[in-house]
Amino acid sequence: MVDEVKNLLKKVEAFSPKSEKEVEEFRLYFLGKKGKIVELFSKFKSVPNENKKEFGQAINALKENTQAKVNKYKDAFKTSESNNTIDLTRPVNLDNLGSKHPISLIRKEIIEIFNRIGFSISEGPEVEDDWHNFSALNTPQEHPARDMQDTFFIQTNPDVLLRSHTSTVQVRHMNKKKPPIRTLSPGRVYRNEAISARAHCIFHQVEGLVIDKNVSFADLKKTLLYFAQEMFGEKTKIRLRPSFFPFTEPSAEVDIYWGLKTDSDHRITKGTGWLEVLGCGMVDPNVLENCGIDSKKYTGFAFGMGIERIAMLKYGIKDLRLFFENDVRFLKQFSAV
Ligand code: PHE
Repeated sequence: MVDEVKNLLKKVEAFSPKSEKEVEEFRLYFLGKKGKIVELFSKFKSVPNENKKEFGQAINALKENTQAKVNKYKDAFKTSESNNTIDLTRPVNLDNLGSKHPISLIRKEIIEIFNRIGFSISEGPEVEDDWHNFSALNTPQEHPARDMQDTFFIQTNPDVLLRSHTSTVQVRHMNKKKPPIRTLSPGRVYRNEAISARAHCIFHQVEGLVIDKNVSFADLKKTLLYFAQEMFGEKTKIRLRPSFFPFTEPSAEVDIYWGLKTDSDHRITKGTGWLEVLGCGMVDPNVLENCGIDSKKYTGFAFGMGIERIAMLKYGIKDLRLFFENDVRFLKQFSAV
């Protein structure tokens, strides 16, 4: 008799209805007043005592599973079978709402932080020319610094390329506007890198540019400290390490103090506690002149960061590729942010 119940259980598990009618038939067959389950319960008395426990558990499982199936399918065919009487007042199914992409969330946060201290937004094309990506930025043809960013060129015309950074937008901005300038250029950039957990051929940057009379390195440092504390918490410490970029002089890389509390902290900071978050420097006078700004009158600073990197740090994401795969199981985790 227990076997009979087990067979019925299998039937219930395999049940996959195609219409509301099938669901109702299924319900009556098992759960109806004259249905299988009532019938089985009535046989309970005749079951030998030592089998009563197992038999009882089996029928209860059958009853629960059957009820669960009916609940699952009972409304499933409602809209398709009564299409002409859709109830517009029914609540929306919130389970299927999309969520903002983590890159969009972090970009928005960065923009808001800099908006609060007077930066405006500037944008430019992703397909660029040599001048805006390199030459205007103090990186003429054959300059070894061109190798710092492995660039995608169009084979038939080496003057056409996919921008390798959004400094291109700053060149365009300086050409159009007179100082004072205080602008932020977010955008997608391209580099010929093998795709891995830490690198991708497409990623997103935000670069900033400030040009005015008497802008100093202290202004740069204070601006970046403000940014780091808004982004990572008010106690965040930063340090600047000397570096090189062809378009800034002096140049620096900015680290934030991440700490060494966990094994993962040791790993990601290579045991130092510090993590690099962006590059920056004072705009090289050659760049100002190339863009029609008098370098005797004006000075400026610039900085640039990768949005993916900031997002990975903020959300503890270990693999850059997740940002591009658009797996809803990944994206859904940001719906409450
Ligand atoms: N353009 C640099 C890069 O993409 C970042 C940077 C911007 C560095 C401005 C200094 C000043 O790597």
